[in-house]
Amino acid sequence: MKPYSYMHTKEGADRSSHVICRYRVTTDLPIEKAAEALAAEQSTGTWTGISTLDDKIFRNYGAKIIGIEGDSVTLAFPEEDFSIDVGGIPQILSVIAGNLFGLESLRGVRLEDVQFPPGIMRKYKGPKFGTDGLRKILDRPDKPLVGTIVKPKIGLSPKDTAKYVYEAGSGGLTNSKDDETLVDQTFCPIEERTKAVAESLDRLAEEGRKMLHAVNVSTNGDKIVSLAEDVQSWGAKQIMVDVITCGFAAVQALAEDPGIKIPIHVHRTMHGAFTKDPLHGISMLPITKLVRMCGGDALHIGTLGAGKMAGSAEGDRDSLQACLTEDIRYKTMMPVCSGGVYPGVVAKIMQASGRNVQIQAGGGVAGHPGGVRKGAIGMSQAVDAAFDGIDVGVYAETHPELKEALDRWGMK
Ligand code: 3PG
Ligand code: 3PG
Ligand code: MG
Repeated sequence: MKPYSYMHTKEGADRSSHVICRYRVTTDLPIEKAAEALAAEQSTGTWTGISTLDDKIFRNYGAKIIGIEGDSVTLAFPEEDFSIDVGGIPQILSVIAGNLFGLESLRGVRLEDVQFPPGIMRKYKGPKFGTDGLRKILDRPDKPLVGTIVKPKIGLSPKDTAKYVYEAGSGGLTNSKDDETLVDQTFCPIEERTKAVAESLDRLAEEGRKMLHAVNVSTNGDKIVSLAEDVQSWGAKQIMVDVITCGFAAVQALAEDPGIKIPIHVHRTMHGAFTKDPLHGISMLPITKLVRMCGGDALHIGTLGAGKMAGSAEGDRDSLQACLTEDIRYKTMMPVCSGGVYPGVVAKIMQASGRNVQIQAGGGVAGHPGGVRKGAIGMSQAVDAAFDGIDVGVYAETHPELKEALDRWGMK
């Protein structure tokens, strides 16, 4: 059995024809051995030498170890290892984020980043609307979008959901959304909810207020496109999909469906199962790049160290940058900061995010002492203050709804 080494002697690999992945590896093995195990398992090898692997196969399709630095291993996978037209992102993930997590010899492996070559990137269309498209719909060229999540996350009737959206919009919010666990439960059928919310949005539009509400269409793969087309026909102006539970292929199917002409808000619930552990799993950065590639218009990226959800400010900043970088062919994707947000934390988020962001609060609006409308006004005022560079505490002296929110939850 001829032994093959995946250690690449030549400097780097041709980035224009390889998928480059950086992993953080925790192992008792010498790091070179761990790198060999990773490269073999994810390309042309397995746990032992095999008689059927020959020079040609190895040369053409074997992964290359192009960097080892401390606990960081960089692999280059030949573009030919991927089956984009038939296989798509599911197959990409089987290569770059597949069996490797279960390798007995590695105590921990975390996929930290991925770079795709132009040949693969041109197969994907990216966002249909993106940040500019959302801003155009909302006629909000500069300020952060400011939104809410209808709370409680389940239990409201379609009528009460629509009332919440109207109150939020009349309080100045630009966006609202279904929560990630609401789809078509008996207490709030999706058709009735969509139609009732559409009436609220029309009423707000007549009052000169532009607003989007994202209807959650997360469901089975064989139904998700037709459900999205249905909610669009019932008056939805935006849809939401939970990318981790539905799959990247679902986001791509929705984004590329010619019948769907409304933006896609992408939630990432369940991501914590593999993004939270710094030594094992997948960081949010590859997830963000994949969501933008397959057509999400807006994506939850965390709260840059300020909200309820675990996540490092630095990691969230990497995702923010991956949403907004103009170095790639796709439209920019709106980064969404959500999870434990309230007016007293808005300035801190905006210091880290800048203005090109959607900041949204569920409890931070619905928990306001004055109710949803005043909660919405408080959030809008916090964004206005931060955008204009005015200290939120000072702004609150002349803006009672903001003051009430700061009195209730304080400042971060
Ligand atoms: C979301 O889906 O964005 C969250 O449910 C936010 O809710 P919270 O602001 O109450 O944390
Ligand atoms: C929520 O849905 O509770 C919040 O948005 C947290 O989700 P995220 O931090 O994954 O966006
Ligand atoms: Mg939620």
